[in-house]
Amino acid sequence: MSSLVPSLPFSLVGQKLTGRSGILALMDDLGKALTLDPQMRMLGGGNPAAVPEMQTCIRERMAELLAEGSAFDRMIGNYDPPQGNPPFCAALAKLLRETFGWKIGPENVAITTGGQTAFFYLFNLLGGRHADGSFRKILLPLCPEYIGYADQGLDESLFVACKPQITWPEGEASRVFKYTVDFEAVSAALAKGNIAAIAVSRPTNPTGNVLTDAEVARLSQLATSAGIPLILDNAYGAPFPGVIFTDATPFWSPGTILTLSLSKLGLPGTRTAIVIGPPEIASAMGAMTAIAGLANGNIGQQLARPWVESGEILKFGPRWLCPFYRRKSDQALGWMRESCDRAGIDWAVHASEGAFFHWLWLRDLAIPTLELYERLKRLKVLVVPGEYFFFGLDPQDDAWPHRRQCLRLNFAQPEQVVREGLEIIAQEAARSRG
Ligand SMILES: Cc1ncc(COP(=O)(O)O)c(C=O)c1O
Repeated sequence: MSSLVPSLPFSLVGQKLTGRSGILALMDDLGKALTLDPQMRMLGGGNPAAVPEMQTCIRERMAELLAEGSAFDRMIGNYDPPQGNPPFCAALAKLLRETFGWKIGPENVAITTGGQTAFFYLFNLLGGRHADGSFRKILLPLCPEYIGYADQGLDESLFVACKPQITWPEGEASRVFKYTVDFEAVSAALAKGNIAAIAVSRPTNPTGNVLTDAEVARLSQLATSAGIPLILDNAYGAPFPGVIFTDATPFWSPGTILTLSLSKLGLPGTRTAIVIGPPEIASAMGAMTAIAGLANGNIGQQLARPWVESGEILKFGPRWLCPFYRRKSDQALGWMRESCDRAGIDWAVHASEGAFFHWLWLRDLAIPTLELYERLKRLKVLVVPGEYFFFGLDPQDDAWPHRRQCLRLNFAQPEQVVREGLEIIAQEAARSRG
């Protein structure tokens, strides 16, 4: 790419193409490690684990589609309408309406090519430069937040983020902390009057935090008062895929844009996500899909349609995924305790309330985790350095040491990989103390 760019006459394009973004660097490194270095202990990526019951279910459904013949031919032979497959969207609206009492119909639903695409569309539709010359930002009420958002703004500085409060629900001696929303900071950010939407992932990637029902209700209230939407990214939680270990009520209101995805059910290869929002937002998603790619892939929607029609899709989480990932989380936490205590480092970990990650805080680390990442890579352990997730903060927060002391670790990998990886991380962190 770099040899091509200097010949382009457009400096803006050149700048955008040459900028090596966090998510690009990361996906590149993770992808190469996975394909080129089988010895690498892969605690870095966001791939779902192979959950045997789920895999069987997916295979059976694919066999059924093939056996039906004409259903398979329609699935691969037709473009769907850009807003999504009508029977799929209608079935999903019906399921959510009847299960949760949300007042929605198919006009509130849009399909996108994964949640990642949905956020690109939503953030740039709502935020950035507007025709009246104003510039509106996306407010992240609790930073650290999902790295995948960081470079999505077509304009620079699309995000403004609030530092969290750090709490110790069971005391500091437990070594388990939890971020909570600093509502004073959120209100102060909203008071500036240039916010287009509030956006938050629940459960949060990278930390496994789940905003409480009270926090969600208050954010929704603040968004409504400001006349802006609340975007809730439910890549992991309830109603599906249900990788959530704490009580959290699925939330939607007419001012909410909720995103769901089939990826963490075990179908990231189908690139299927669902946006539930006001009809004008859903139809804008459809318009953007038409412009960017004509239509979405059909395969995910056709695979999942009977599970949506029967309501089965709501049961996979409680029945298979939640117990699977919870066991993995507990196991990894046990190994983390053993390794970190044995290494004698000052460590803490975020409460594991959902998703696939542990968020390890190395409190006496003398080097940035970006440097620790390189050292660990040489020792054949791949992690994600925490710095990537602290975007949108005020420059005065550069001095906050916490943003250079955390690692994201995927605990869903095979046992030996996670156990050895945690031991090597603890030992290297001990060598890298201040
Ligand atoms: C919080 C969060 N949101 C959105 C996504 C995007 O997922 P997908 O595009 O596969 O739906 C991810 C992927 O890991 C994620 O962790």
